[in-house]
Amino acid sequence: MAISESTINEIKYRNDIESVISPYVSLKRRGKNLVGLCPFHNEKTPSFTVYPENGSFYCFGCGVGGDVFTFVKLIENLDYISAVRLLAERSGIAVEEDAYDNSLSKLKEKIYDINRESARFFHNFLMSENGKWALDYLAGRGLKIATIKHFGLGAAPDSWDALTEHLKAKGYSLTDMLAANVIGKSQRGSYYDRFRKRVMFPIIDIRGRVIGFSGRAMPGDDKAGGKYVNTSDTPVYKKSENLFGLNFAKKYCEDRVILVEGNMDVVSLHQAGFQNTVAPLGTSFTPAQAKLLSRYTKEIVLTLDADEAGRKAVQKDGEVLKDTGLNVKVVTVPDGKDPDEFIKKHGAARFGAVLDGAVNEIEYKLLTAVSDIDVTSDAGKVKYISRAADIIAASENPIERDIYVGRMCDKYGVSRTVLTERIAEIRRANAKKTARKEINSIIMPKFDTNAPNPEKRLHPAAAAAEESVIAVLFSHPDFFGEAYGKLKPEQMVTSLNSRIYGRMCGVLSEGGTPDISDFAEILSDSQMGYLVSVINSDLARGNPLTVLKDCISVILNEKEKKNAPDVKNMDIDDWAENLKKLAEKKRGKRNG
Ligand code: UTP
Ligand code: MN
Repeated sequence: MAISESTINEIKYRNDIESVISPYVSLKRRGKNLVGLCPFHNEKTPSFTVYPENGSFYCFGCGVGGDVFTFVKLIENLDYISAVRLLAERSGIAVEEDAYDNSLSKLKEKIYDINRESARFFHNFLMSENGKWALDYLAGRGLKIATIKHFGLGAAPDSWDALTEHLKAKGYSLTDMLAANVIGKSQRGSYYDRFRKRVMFPIIDIRGRVIGFSGRAMPGDDKAGGKYVNTSDTPVYKKSENLFGLNFAKKYCEDRVILVEGNMDVVSLHQAGFQNTVAPLGTSFTPAQAKLLSRYTKEIVLTLDADEAGRKAVQKDGEVLKDTGLNVKVVTVPDGKDPDEFIKKHGAARFGAVLDGAVNEIEYKLLTAVSDIDVTSDAGKVKYISRAADIIAASENPIERDIYVGRMCDKYGVSRTVLTERIAEIRRANAKKTARKEINSIIMPKFDTNAPNPEKRLHPAAAAAEESVIAVLFSHPDFFGEAYGKLKPEQMVTSLNSRIYGRMCGVLSEGGTPDISDFAEILSDSQMGYLVSVINSDLARGNPLTVLKDCISVILNEKEKKNAPDVKNMDIDDWAENLKKLAEKKRGKRNG
């Protein structure tokens, strides 16, 4: 850690967790703790808990947790060091610069600088005499100068080194330019501008920093190699976790956000007054993007092509949006156009009308399921009704199901009882399938790489005992000698707990008191959440020393079991050898 422990402690002391969190979350007192609605996921009843006693927070709904720094890091989308610096600044504490180990934050700063400088370079080039071809192109697509300036659009010259030379003259190194991914390196080792003869869209994050670029080739440029060239992931940019246009849209999308496919759609919709529009960045819509959006809006409108691909996209995006709590609506842009083309042809008012006709997910599926069926024939009707039953059955809302059953019956003259019964049958079958899946996953525990401690499923008893040891030791550091004398970190069964306990022992052996901030370096965000939940749980009921001793013997026992050879799979020699060992051990115990 680049910042000294004493500085970290001082920053923490001056930024108590309640006052750091309360501007973001409205907190109510509950006993000695505080609760509120979690800012990191969508919820209606508060499961976000703040523990002033040890300066931590934990959400029982989504599992995030940590100390003040973790909170600022997550809510402000910063790295840990930057979060520490932010709180230091707020409380007027000077943070010493350190040459080593904050190299990553230094590199990030460099990349932001290079990106900003590159964006400026592209924009100036677009506005210069030499960039006329690009400005003509954008004007031809209906963009006003004000819009171009608002989005900071630019153009990359038709050159292999114009940007490289510009950045060099500004004092940036080739290594940093490579890290920012604005230049590439050929196999022969020469450097070149990645964006050439393209219209440039800077990608700007919610804090207004340029994090990457998307460059569109000129129409008919066969040598361009791809319609779009995008920034690959860099230390400041992950395309699956950002959305184009959210930096502007975040102020306009409290009620609803419009999701479109392309950058160009975002720019022209903003110009037409739909400033609540965003687009994914050259990938399909991801869970991380859905989660990000759920922090800003209640409803998402998917705009889609009226073709098979569009229908598949609704399925997929619907899946992604399932757990976000966002209301999902779907609009189909008429005559297979994208929103940008549609607006250019028919104007903003007509697009507004299209948006007003947005239907919910079920309605959309019911509408599209009919497209390849002739419902004037009886056979067609039967086929459609059975598809419709599947679609309606997927809804978890009984009122919604009832409404659509009613509509289908009115429209196609089916008996309400028959359709209702059919849907109930499908739902029972689906429930069975889900149950079977759940049972299978219990019988065959898998490593869930998303779970903070995936080994817990395989070794529940050991993990629970380990958690108790960690919790007891957190509140009773004076038991360190007792614990460490019997249990070394490598003797813990699950590797995450072993790492946590190892770190605790490190701190305690130097006479310190463990604090969650000591773990920020060695744990990921979700592991931090796990640790906070462990130390704040009431695991350590009963006499803590007894709990500690009991748990240690459980762990040692489980460790031995884990290490014991698997008798079923032994050949006869190994088996004999194993028996001999067991016998010796028994004898040893008796004699000892
Ligand atoms: P489109 O091909 O629909 O482009 O790709 P567009 O946005 O409508 O652009 P115009 O109107 O032809 O100028 C949609 C999005 O998919 C990504 C881009 O983000 C684009 O905006 N994409 C597309 C790529 O990343 N690479 C490609 O080669 C093509
Ligand atoms: Mn387009």
